[in-house]
Amino acid sequence: MTQQTHLTLNDGRAIPQVGLGVWQTPNDTAVEAVKTALDAGYRHVDTAAAYRNEKGVGEGIKASGLARDAVFVTTKLWNDNQGYDETLTAAEKSLGRLGLDHLDLYLIHWPAPKKGLYVESWKALVRLKEEGRVTSIGVSNFAAEHLDRIIGETGVAPAINQIELHPRFQQRALREANAARGVLTESWSPLGQGQLLSDPVIAAIAGKHGKTPAQVIIRWHVDSGLVVIPKSVTPARIVQNFGVFDFQLDEADKAAIAALDTADGRIGPDPLTADF
Ligand code: A2P
Repeated sequence: MTQQTHLTLNDGRAIPQVGLGVWQTPNDTAVEAVKTALDAGYRHVDTAAAYRNEKGVGEGIKASGLARDAVFVTTKLWNDNQGYDETLTAAEKSLGRLGLDHLDLYLIHWPAPKKGLYVESWKALVRLKEEGRVTSIGVSNFAAEHLDRIIGETGVAPAINQIELHPRFQQRALREANAARGVLTESWSPLGQGQLLSDPVIAAIAGKHGKTPAQVIIRWHVDSGLVVIPKSVTPARIVQNFGVFDFQLDEADKAAIAALDTADGRIGPDPLTADF
């Protein structure tokens, strides 16, 4: 298999561009899904305290037999645990459930602006990085105004902003805002929670390349300079979704996918109005 690709974070670390997402993967299932992914060549897993499967993810990593340093592990701070001290405690709990002594990436899961705690939470992440409990720190679902707030208060820009992003909701403005601040964009629900797999434009491109719709969409994220974490619990799909490093989209493919963008293509909650 052709080599997987990496991107460089603003703190100098490398992140494997394609990782396994495990949202909505039950804890027991996560063990097998993670092991299947790592056996297939993935070196990046993205979980969250809210997914309630950190334990299974940790077991899957151990079952793979890979060295700790070979796997890039992300988890996220849940909204109920925001606040300076609460964040420090929540990070230790996540590490305990994962069975790890450090995280590669820790994200604030949502800005939850009504709580007014994301700046304090970010300060705790900065400390966790200084202490080496977390190698890189970032955020998820942040708007440009939230990024500016935490950068203004701490002088530290997040390494990543993980946001809903797929061909029907391409988030061009926020991607530009991230890039202008040195923040990499990572796509959650990159397949539109599976809804995009039956799109005829995607199907036509897949047929042209002898690839599946999922592979075309994941390759689109890769070619767009995004970190991407497709979720599957199905072993054959997990393997298939990693088979994206032996082909490239051409300009016509990219133009056709660019035209799938819609203003109202969001599937998940809007971070500015979500009632968390
Ligand atoms: P499953 O987990 O049952 O295999 P997203 O990453 O955008 O959230 O999409 C996840 C959804 O897409 C899940 O329902 C997952 O199903 C499905 N899915 C993931 N990969 C594939 C694939 N290669 N072919 C078909 N469906 C897929």
